[in-house]
Amino acid sequence: MGLRISPSILSADFGHLADECARVAPAADWLHVDVMDNHFVPNLTIGQPVVEALVKHVTTPIDCHLMISDADRWAPGYAEAGAKSVTFHVEAAANPRQVARDIRATGARAGMALKPGTDIAQYEELFNELDMILIMTVEPGFGGQSFMADQLPKVKRAREVIKNLDLDIWLQVDGGVAASTIEACADAGADTFVAGSAVYNTSDPIVAIDNLRALAQTATDSSWWCAH
Ligand code: DX5
Ligand code: ZN
Repeated sequence: MGLRISPSILSADFGHLADECARVAPAADWLHVDVMDNHFVPNLTIGQPVVEALVKHVTTPIDCHLMISDADRWAPGYAEAGAKSVTFHVEAAANPRQVARDIRATGARAGMALKPGTDIAQYEELFNELDMILIMTVEPGFGGQSFMADQLPKVKRAREVIKNLDLDIWLQVDGGVAASTIEACADAGADTFVAGSAVYNTSDPIVAIDNLRALAQTATDSSWWCAH
């Protein structure tokens, strides 16, 4: 069972963005880029022009996490800017099915994110339109927050649906993912892990990624959902 580690550049030095991306490239599967609009979340980061610029300087595929209102209008533009995966928040989309279709129409992978307070049940019928589900394990907006273990049942439920329907969907967790929490995420069913501070706020990001990967792999191998 393949798993993916996607370092979040939210914890990187924004003054040296391309270098910071290169620093994790040897070990990262994806680069997680957090787009915030000061409206959907109380923080403002970077937008489409920066994604477009980054794509030209990094070889690691970009996993764009849009924490912005009106995903219907803005999401496809990030795929056109070069992100290979674009995740929108279901709370920010008037027509999530159409947003997913619009992203996929560009050739990019479509992801749908759920905030901690959002119930997954009503969105399970959308799974077949998606390439990834993102279960937030903190309130979106900032790096360095504490992991919310109460989101693990939602991860488990998403994995059950994916398994029961035999869908080819990645299941991502984002927020507070670190050496102390990644095993619980993998055990619940996650296979794609975003880590910001646990990667960038260390002396050696490569060692940190390798360590996270090893912990997640071991937990996955003995998990309920990964049949052998
Ligand atoms: C938070 C962002 C995360 C953030 C995670 O809203 O979506 O991607 O960078 O940071 P850590 O891993 O430090 O919790
Ligand atoms: Zn994120």
